[in-house]
Amino acid sequence: MDEERIKKILDRYYRRDLHYEDGRILGSMYTKVPDIALEAFLRFHQANLGNPGLYPGTRELERRVVKFLLRLVSAPKGRFYGHVLSGGTEANIVALWAAREMGYRRVLATKDAHFSIRKTVNILNMPLVTVKMNRGKMSLGDLERKMKDKDVVVATAGTTPLGLIDPIEEIARVISSMDIFLHVDAAFGGFVIPFLRELGYLNQRFGFDIKEVKSVTIDPHKMGMAPYPAGALLSRENIFQSISIDAPYLSTGKNYSILGTRQSGSVAASYASILYFGWSGYRELVKRCMENTLYGMKRFSEEDFEIFVKPEMNILNIKIPNILRVKRELVKRGWGISINPSYSTLRIVFMPHVTTVVVEKLLKELKNIEKSYGR
Ligand SMILES: Cc1ncc(COP(=O)(O)O)c(C=O)c1O
Repeated sequence: MDEERIKKILDRYYRRDLHYEDGRILGSMYTKVPDIALEAFLRFHQANLGNPGLYPGTRELERRVVKFLLRLVSAPKGRFYGHVLSGGTEANIVALWAAREMGYRRVLATKDAHFSIRKTVNILNMPLVTVKMNRGKMSLGDLERKMKDKDVVVATAGTTPLGLIDPIEEIARVISSMDIFLHVDAAFGGFVIPFLRELGYLNQRFGFDIKEVKSVTIDPHKMGMAPYPAGALLSRENIFQSISIDAPYLSTGKNYSILGTRQSGSVAASYASILYFGWSGYRELVKRCMENTLYGMKRFSEEDFEIFVKPEMNILNIKIPNILRVKRELVKRGWGISINPSYSTLRIVFMPHVTTVVVEKLLKELKNIEKSYGR
C-alpha cells in the first residue's frame, strides 16, 4: 500500500481519539510534550536497554536522567541507583519485588495508594495490610498499630485520587527503630513537590534526604513532560541486584527488570525534556499548573460547587452528588473526564493543557447538564 493511503486509513482512527491539545482531557497525568522530545524518541527508538551492551550511548543518557531524578528527590552526595522503566506501575512492582527478595514480607499501604500496589501484591503473593487514612493521608496511629518487622510500607507523595502527600517524615520517624522497607511512590509528585517547595506552597520532604526512605518511584512521563513509556525507580542500595537473573544471550549476561526488551527511545526523550525545561523551566511549569488549579478552585467555589479537599498540588476534586450520571453526560459531550466514585468527586488534573479557558468551558458545560447533578 502506498504511504498516502496508509496515512488516510490511520487518520480515520486518529480522529476517534481525544488529544491533549484539544483541552478536553481533564483527568490524565500526561500532556502534549515538546517536539524535541518526540524527535529524540524517534531518533533512539531502536535502543533497547534490556540489552545495554549494544547501546552505550543510551545507557549514558539513562545515567544522566537518573542523576536529574536524584536531584529532584533530594539525594545527598554519594552512590544511589536507578533505572528508567516503563512507568509507575513497573517501578512499584520492581521495588516491592526487590524488597520481597530481600526478605520483606507484608505490604502496608492506604486505600488511596495507586492500584499498581494491589496489582503487585497479587503478582508477588504478598499479604496487603490496609492502613487507615486521616483526611486522605496515611494515619500514623493506625500504621503504628499494624506494622511489624520485615514489612514494606508504601507511602505516596502525590496520591492519584486527591494529590495529597502522606506524612513521610513522620512515617519515617515511626518506623525508624524497626527493620521496615519504606518505598515512596512519587510517580506524579516527584516532578511537582520540589518546585512547590521552592515556590513556597509547601515544605514537606519526601525523598532520600529522609534516611529511612529506601526507594522512590518517579515518572518522567507524567509531570516530567516526557513521552511514554518513561517511569523510574531510584534506590538507596542496589536493590536491582536482588532481582537480577541470568540472561546468557544478552550483552551483559544479566537482566534485572520485569520487561526483557525495553523501549528506550523514551530515555533519550526524557533527557531531551530535561534539557529543554531545565530546573527553572519545570518550576515555571509547576507554577502555572498550580495557579490554574487555584483559579479552578476559586471559580468552582464561586459557582457554588463544593471543593472536596484543599489541593496540595495540581489535582482538584469537586464534590458532585450524582457523579456517575455527570460523568456519562460529560463523556457524551466529548470530555475525557475522571472521577473518584468513592468520594463522589470530579477529579481534574491540572496538567499544562488544562488552562483557565478550559475551566470556563467546563463550567459552561456543567451548566448545560445541571439537572443531572442532583444537588
Ligand atoms: C501515584 C501513582 N503511582 C503509580 C502510578 C502508575 O503509573 P503508570 O500509569 O505510569 O504505570 C500512577 C498513575 O497514575 C500514580 O498516580
